[in-house]
Amino acid sequence: MNLPTKAIIGTQWGDEGKGKITDCLAEDADFVVRFQGGTNAGHTIGIGDEIFKLHLLPSGILRRGVMAVIGNGVVVDPEELLEEIRMVESRGIAVEGLRISDRANVIMPYHKILDGAEEKSRGPKGVGTTGRGIGPCYSDKISRYGVRIGDLTDKATLEEKINMIFPTKLRLIAAFGAPPLDAVKDIIDTYSSYGSALGKYVTDTSVMINEAIRNGKKVLFEGAQGTMLDIDHGTYPYVTSSSCVTGGICTGAGVPPSSIKEVVGVVKAYTTRVGHGPFVTELTSGLGEYLQKRGGEFGTTTGRARRCGWLDLVVVRHAVRINGITSLAITKIDVLNGMEELRIATDYEIDGQIVKDFPSSISKLVRAKPIYQEFDGWKDWTKDETEKIISNGYRTLPIEMRRYLRFISSNVAVPIGIVSLGPKRDETMYLRNKKWEN
Ligand code: GDP
Ligand code: IMO
Ligand code: MG
Repeated sequence: MNLPTKAIIGTQWGDEGKGKITDCLAEDADFVVRFQGGTNAGHTIGIGDEIFKLHLLPSGILRRGVMAVIGNGVVVDPEELLEEIRMVESRGIAVEGLRISDRANVIMPYHKILDGAEEKSRGPKGVGTTGRGIGPCYSDKISRYGVRIGDLTDKATLEEKINMIFPTKLRLIAAFGAPPLDAVKDIIDTYSSYGSALGKYVTDTSVMINEAIRNGKKVLFEGAQGTMLDIDHGTYPYVTSSSCVTGGICTGAGVPPSSIKEVVGVVKAYTTRVGHGPFVTELTSGLGEYLQKRGGEFGTTTGRARRCGWLDLVVVRHAVRINGITSLAITKIDVLNGMEELRIATDYEIDGQIVKDFPSSISKLVRAKPIYQEFDGWKDWTKDETEKIISNGYRTLPIEMRRYLRFISSNVAVPIGIVSLGPKRDETMYLRNKKWEN
């Protein structure tokens, strides 16, 4: 069956521009579904002069008539979600299309405390987490210690669960010497009140999404983080705690593999990373700082400066293989405008050997030297010219930029569907006739 479903997946270390691409493709979608991650995500969407920064709400919330679904694989911080709902409502966005899975796990106050405490105890070997309680919440889910969204609307169950979990958490927190928790009764009351506030959005989202797919609705799965932050396929242990890859959609949204048709891999035209861990093409010289400033590379969630470097196709090929990417969305290529010379890493050299596949070992990665291909840069242009370039089409892009793009596509053997030339909705070039026919 020719299903109109698409997945938007980060191919690098997050912040590739997934929010913007999701928003663009959501224009004629029926559903936008988040399937993993939590408030560690920060998806920025520029509409005219307005900027929206979303952490938990699916980007489809900004498109009228689109159902915005938080799947069971997401970890939900109800306090933050309510705040985000208030924020978008205050800016004239209706949230009646929001649905939250009753099976999604809840970020509790002890998860946030323990995230900070665990990071502190790792010292210089810390992951550099966002401090949002993500790792401890997913750990509890796997250890069968989790509180689920459905529990918040059932006070007796919530009370029973928290009373069971609480003593262990108190002991752990005391062992870390971390700040104390509120009284158990207060936590139960607060989370039960979150349940009352969110109850109207809570449902079995897997039933809803599968029905939509059966009925031929256009469904977009919005990834958070990126392949290199994936718990299995990323630079472990410098990763997040969820499955950010296409495979995570099946478990995190409750849909079968056969329901994922197109996979759009979002590739930033250079590379960035927030937090610690290996980064083979990192530019520690002035050029890295230049990209950081010109690209506005400061975290949407924590405000931390993002480390910057050249595009790394060993990384992108790894992402193409794991995710089954069917088309690429190249973002932020405008940030490279006006640079004289550019580089793209095609392979690594490790201990005198040429390496084409991304290694699992951190110690090998630390020794890896990038093998670069050099490219001529292209001219800069003003924001006003972007519109003209977009309406005149791909052929109007500078020849050097087209060479750079063609090289990426042929090296990773995937066609380009979208070239993003700025943060706003209309600064986007579609290389196919219709957005849903990639
Ligand atoms: P996400 O986490 O993958 O959704 O990405 P973020 O929103 O965290 O970071 C991407 C940043 O780049 C945001 O500030 C976007 O507004 C911006 N952005 C997205 N696409 C483009 C683009 O093509 N050009 C430029 N200059 N900025 C872009
Ligand atoms: P979006 O969806 C970039 C990074 C953190 C840290 C590691 C683990 O905006 O692309 P965590 O708090 O998840 O336990 O932190 O993962 N990280 C991200 N980096 N973009 C993100 O999300 C990220 N979410 C987590 O910086 O290195
Ligand atoms: Mg982000």
